[in-house]
Amino acid sequence: MRDASLTLELWRGSVSLAEFFMKDQISRVESEALSLIDGVTDMRGLEDARVSILGKKGALTKVMSGMRDVPKEERPAIGQLVNKTRAAIEKALQEKEALLQRQADVAAVADVDVTIPSRALFKGGMHPLSIVRYEAVSILRRMGFSIEEGPEIEDEFHCFDALNTPKDHPARNEKDSFYFDSGKLLRPHTSSVQIRSMEHLTPPVRIIAPGAAYRRDEIDATHLSAFSQLEGLYVDRDVRVSDLKGTLEYLLKELFGPGTEVRFRPHFFPFTEPSFELDVKLCAVGQKPRWIEIAGCGMVDPAVFEAVDMSRGSSMYSGLTGFAFGIGLERLAMIKWGIKDIRSLIENDVRFLAQFQ
Ligand code: DAH
Repeated sequence: MRDASLTLELWRGSVSLAEFFMKDQISRVESEALSLIDGVTDMRGLEDARVSILGKKGALTKVMSGMRDVPKEERPAIGQLVNKTRAAIEKALQEKEALLQRQADVAAVADVDVTIPSRALFKGGMHPLSIVRYEAVSILRRMGFSIEEGPEIEDEFHCFDALNTPKDHPARNEKDSFYFDSGKLLRPHTSSVQIRSMEHLTPPVRIIAPGAAYRRDEIDATHLSAFSQLEGLYVDRDVRVSDLKGTLEYLLKELFGPGTEVRFRPHFFPFTEPSFELDVKLCAVGQKPRWIEIAGCGMVDPAVFEAVDMSRGSSMYSGLTGFAFGIGLERLAMIKWGIKDIRSLIENDVRFLAQFQ
């Protein structure tokens, strides 16, 4: 619509015809632009509108070409008017863009149902080996055993010599254990902790030592080269084989249930006399019942006490009696859950591990 006050100015002669035309066109472009922007409904339309108004061939740009016909002294006023108009159009474009963005944001979450319960998070759980270790340790602690530790990189004295294991024993062979250049080795059993404990404890001694042990074993369904043991040692006056049997039977029945069958087979270990291997009858669902060896045990050989006394420079242990045992923790887990292949315990396959949560 033509601006009436402008027509009046022309009529009065206070503006030139050229200025009149320019101002008239500029105000027309402005009102057309604003209504165009107002009608836009999406971002694409907004961009088209911007180009058709402010672009190189846009309406406002075209009007500017009429500047040539405007007398010099009137140009600054027209220039200012153009700037004002451009600013108003840009502001309208910006406001429209913000409005469209807000509408798009609202539309994007329109079908989200915030009342739907969230998906269950994957919770971590204890590794089966940790579960049996934890259970076995807590049963033995209830019976009065306390926990001791020893280094995994051990010397031959604590692994062998003090345990009455002679120089020609196969476990001392480089083919059977992992040696370092220093002569130390990765302990092939946790029995070394028996010696370390007696070196610093005053009898009676009632300790357990859960931990890792290492052997150069071929890895197969029942062997790993790094595995876990639970060592136990009880030293006092008049400790008997019946104490050993009673303790281990109680432990296994607590672990696997009161009906668990246990059998002690005579065996040989250098550091116990007599020595036994301990088997548990595995009755897994869908499997034939079979005996599984889970531990070595026996009455502490007096030669072990002698070695400890020598190392301490006292005669604290001579004349005492005791029993010791070393349980394979992987074997316990295999019995508890009927796991057929020991390697599943180290493969960290989540499909396997998730069953123990
Ligand atoms: N150290 C033995 C092994 O690794 C197991 C063992 C046997 C531990 C008899 C003992 C024991 O404490 O008395 O095979």
